[in-house]
Amino acid sequence: MNVSDSSFIKACYRRNDGRIPVWIMRQAGRYLPEYRAVREKASFLELCQSPDLIAQVVRQPIERFGFDAAILFSDILTMLAPMGMQFEFPEGGPRVQDPIRRPEDIDRLHDMDPVSDLNFVLDGIRQIKKELPDTPLIGFAGSPFTLACYMIEGMGSKSFDLARRFLHQYPKATERLFELLVDNITRYLNAQITAGAEAVQLFDSWGGMLSREAYRRWSAEPIQQIFSRLDFDGVPRILFVNNVAPYLDIVRDIDCEVVGVDFRTDLTAAATALPGKAVQGNLDPSVLFGEREQVVTQTIRILDSLDNHDNLIFNLGHGIQPETPIASVEAVVETVHNYRG
Ligand code: CP3
Repeated sequence: MNVSDSSFIKACYRRNDGRIPVWIMRQAGRYLPEYRAVREKASFLELCQSPDLIAQVVRQPIERFGFDAAILFSDILTMLAPMGMQFEFPEGGPRVQDPIRRPEDIDRLHDMDPVSDLNFVLDGIRQIKKELPDTPLIGFAGSPFTLACYMIEGMGSKSFDLARRFLHQYPKATERLFELLVDNITRYLNAQITAGAEAVQLFDSWGGMLSREAYRRWSAEPIQQIFSRLDFDGVPRILFVNNVAPYLDIVRDIDCEVVGVDFRTDLTAAATALPGKAVQGNLDPSVLFGEREQVVTQTIRILDSLDNHDNLIFNLGHGIQPETPIASVEAVVETVHNYRG
């Protein structure tokens, strides 16, 4: 089958008339015993650098659940190392060495070349396409603001106060940092597309913490710049915003095919506010810890809330959590697939 005829790609372009496609964010991960088995032999960073292991873990959830799209296995931070910023993944999330705290800290960052610096990612993509030719493959990167959050804060945070302050303390340096991120993210995504990615998703995981004014300037504008420089026909551009509700009117004006909607946002309201776009979402990942009947009911509630299903890609409203019961994922996929077509 041609990937462009898949339900996922057709839904991205709002012309799917068959079964509703479903995939889930973080679908290759620790809730899967077969992923944990790979992780016993390789650290997360080793896994991210091995094209064979990348392809192996990308295939795991596709083969187990029959998801309609695969996503590259990597991390949003991967591209920072060749830009001059090292990091580790100890228990409890990422740690960046020497985070940016002052404008001069930006001077040690530089452009990276995806082809020479991140060839293991591009080889991973080529390997996945060899092993899964018929399943659409989503490439990805973090949004400039989301990457800046980790670069400035140095680790995860509830509110990323240091990052949000930096924007106002050092506006000129912030501009310089974001220009660098926009350029490198753009080249990275274009390289992923050249290697075989058939859609791309930007994860704007932390833009949802900004004021509307700051969101416009430091999330929406740089994202628009990236999307406008991906001049590849037939490769849908997906923007996932965690907490998109306050910015729907701003996101409406971003030139992309699909908006990924978090679980706090009403999917019907999002679909109405985003004419001409497909929507992806938005089951609360914690629902999967409930009884099967509840999982099915909540999945159907989301499906029933839309009048148009030609432009829907079912997903969770954020990443799946490590202890999630496998049976709940099966229930979601079955419910979505049996809903129509
Ligand atoms: O979706 C997928 O299945 C593709 C793979 C993927 C990972 N990270 C693998 C991963 C993707 C798309 C990401 C993106 C990512 N990474 C984001 C944006 C998405 C979001 O959740 O909002 C962010 C913020 C990160 C940074 C990151 N990486 C954090 C905060 C953590 C620790 C949290 C955790 O779940 O442990 C990671 C580690 C990480 N990235 C794991 C995986 C499978 C766990 C690593 C392990 O196996 O121990």
